[in-house]
Amino acid sequence: MTHPIIHPLAALLNPGVRELEISGIRRFSTLAAQYPDALSLTLGQPDFATPEHVKQAGCQAIADNHTVYTANAGLLKLRQAAADFVAARYDLHYDANTEVIITNGATQALDIALRTLLVPGSEVVLPGPVYPGYEPLVRLAGATPVFVDTRSSGFRLTAQALKQALTARTRCVLLPYPSNPTGTLLGTDELAEIAAVLAEREVFVVSDEIYSELVYTDSHHSLAQFANLRNSTVVINGLSKSHAMTGWRIGFTFAPPYITEQMLKVHQYSAACASSVSQYAALEALTHGQADAAPMREAYLQRRDLVCARLRAMGLPVTVPAGAFYVFPDISEFNLSSFAFAARLLAEVRLAVVPGAAFSPLGEGHVRISYAYAPEVLTAGMDRLESFLTRLRT
Ligand SMILES: Cc1ncc(COP(=O)(O)O)c(C=O)c1O
Repeated sequence: MTHPIIHPLAALLNPGVRELEISGIRRFSTLAAQYPDALSLTLGQPDFATPEHVKQAGCQAIADNHTVYTANAGLLKLRQAAADFVAARYDLHYDANTEVIITNGATQALDIALRTLLVPGSEVVLPGPVYPGYEPLVRLAGATPVFVDTRSSGFRLTAQALKQALTARTRCVLLPYPSNPTGTLLGTDELAEIAAVLAEREVFVVSDEIYSELVYTDSHHSLAQFANLRNSTVVINGLSKSHAMTGWRIGFTFAPPYITEQMLKVHQYSAACASSVSQYAALEALTHGQADAAPMREAYLQRRDLVCARLRAMGLPVTVPAGAFYVFPDISEFNLSSFAFAARLLAEVRLAVVPGAAFSPLGEGHVRISYAYAPEVLTAGMDRLESFLTRLRT
């Protein structure tokens, strides 16, 4: 094993950055890389290819020399297409000129939103267990994440629990539904109760809706549909999951002009604009590919049912996901930390899943299984998990 040489200037690097935790997912994938023959159910991205017509639009954009900067906020026709899409699908209404920014994936959308809304010393309330991409961005903005324990309410943030978590320092509530890693979403009644609590407070909402096209029951609802919250909310979305476009890096922010105007400055000086080629591909996805997500959603639904049926047959408690493409079974009966469980699963039967603790300490006692894999891969994975559980139980 080689030891990194510590440079004398290392201590001068920004302590805020040095203290950021390496994501538990990354720590675990480093471990998994030592087992190249392992079967992995860890990836949080579609296993489908980007739709052909979208790829062609990207190629055409290069051929047409659309390889220069676009407007900082993105191509106006793409912003319009994004606004039209959320209007038609989710009844969200935004002006393409003043309320939409095209970003480098949902990740950069989250970054510019949080850096614009937060000040040092402020607090962000978010339900846990939760996607590990939020906490570092909150901390880089000098704020503190406050995790609300959602384990006893089926991983759903309740209005009551939210109310208890709000303090004078709360600047923002982050809603991550449909949820990675739990697959839960909130219904309109639950959102209405949350909206009623938030309407009484001067706080912003960031609503990460990147999985909105992958909802299996009901349809997707956004907190920004509530008139009294629309102007304090930043809605985050993008094409990574809906159109199998993770590598193209296209995300969106939808927010009222007074927020968009300020976020645009952060975006302008950190990214200038999203990739021009990707923006043309995104335009094609949103204008001629509104139906692209449907067959993928149908496939994920069948895979969800396959995995949940197998987990239940193995006796692992699991909340059936209503959206996204993850399940989060309870492994607490084995009295192993989620990292120890996942490490043994990997070493003993060569199956990689993500330890629940990667999703905040509230994810302990669970593992995350992605079902964005072909059914035969999922079946092989479930066979390995079953043999491991049999071994643990005997
Ligand atoms: C909840 C959530 N938000 C945001 C992202 C990042 O999306 P993007 O690839 O568009 O940056 C992910 C990626 O896995 C995610 O799971």
